[in-house]
Amino acid sequence: MFQAVAYVSRGLFRSYAGLSVRMNSTGIDQKGVLANRVAVVTGATDGIGFAIARRLARDGAHVVVSSRKQHNVDRAVAALQGEGLSVTGTVCHVGKAEDRERLVATVLEHYGGLDFLVCNAAVNPLVRSTLQASEEVWDKILDVNVKSPALLLSQLLPHMENRGMGAVILVSSIAAYIPHVELGPYNVSKTALLGLTRTLSLELAPKGIRVNCLVPGIIKTNFSKVLHMNEVFWNNFKEKYRLQRLGQPEDCAGLVSFLCSPDACYINGENIVVAGFSPQL
Ligand SMILES: NC(=O)c1ccc[n+]([C@@H]2O[C@H](COP(=O)([O-])OP(=O)(O)OC[C@H]3O[C@@H](n4cnc5c(N)ncnc54)[C@H](OP(=O)(O)O)[C@@H]3O)[C@@H](O)[C@H]2O)c1
Repeated sequence: MFQAVAYVSRGLFRSYAGLSVRMNSTGIDQKGVLANRVAVVTGATDGIGFAIARRLARDGAHVVVSSRKQHNVDRAVAALQGEGLSVTGTVCHVGKAEDRERLVATVLEHYGGLDFLVCNAAVNPLVRSTLQASEEVWDKILDVNVKSPALLLSQLLPHMENRGMGAVILVSSIAAYIPHVELGPYNVSKTALLGLTRTLSLELAPKGIRVNCLVPGIIKTNFSKVLHMNEVFWNNFKEKYRLQRLGQPEDCAGLVSFLCSPDACYINGENIVVAGFSPQL
């Protein structure tokens, strides 16, 4: 086995050197900055999740994609394998405990463990204000968007530890910083993820696992059609923040690969905006 990971200190913030080629138990010799690392991406069959899965695989990782619908998983796996990438997949509705267990079992069956978890899946069943949301809607949004990343991570954590470098990326939204009045509980759920990132980053630092957060702006996907296809909203937004174009899923993928890579080994607990502008000081 070609072991190219050099640890110069224990715990978080290790340094890594010469990570471009590394073989794992599959025996497939991947190349790239994430060579032979194992990544799990939720909500990975379309939009931002799909672009992230593709980028991680292009950078050398073995990637497990998942989403709620089998036909979407089959389509995504076929497309990525068709590009020669090392990808497998399974159905996982992140809000369902039995589906999360199936995802864990798939990871263990194929790779015996994992290095990176990208919690990208989210829902927004309501396009109205916070106070008009029913308890059912609140439960669904908080279950899928906020609780499921923590629950899935707790199930996968034993299989992420002691592998050298672990990274978790949560996916929040610009709505956490600039709430859209018609997306009430969704805004709140995405703000909660900023706090979850901070909390988990402290909890997992002693285990050598970093936790950071991707905060996308408005990115061209089905999910955001309600915003970017609303001419009045989009033109105002573009003008206010001096945007030159709509974001593309690929605009988010490079950051996630970087956050998983050795170059990010001293970056932990950050919420990083990919929006074409900055909503923060
Ligand atoms: N697009 C934007 O402008 C934007 C902006 C800020 C933040 N975000 C965030 O980025 C993430 C991805 O959004 P997107 O725009 O890429 O969405 P998208 O294009 O609609 O893709 C959503 C993906 O998630 C899967 N999915 C939906 N619900 C799921 C669930 N409960 N469990 C597992 N998988 C599920 C879908 O497949 P199935 O239908 O097969 O489940 C699909 O693969 C979300 O967290 C969203 O909040 C997006």
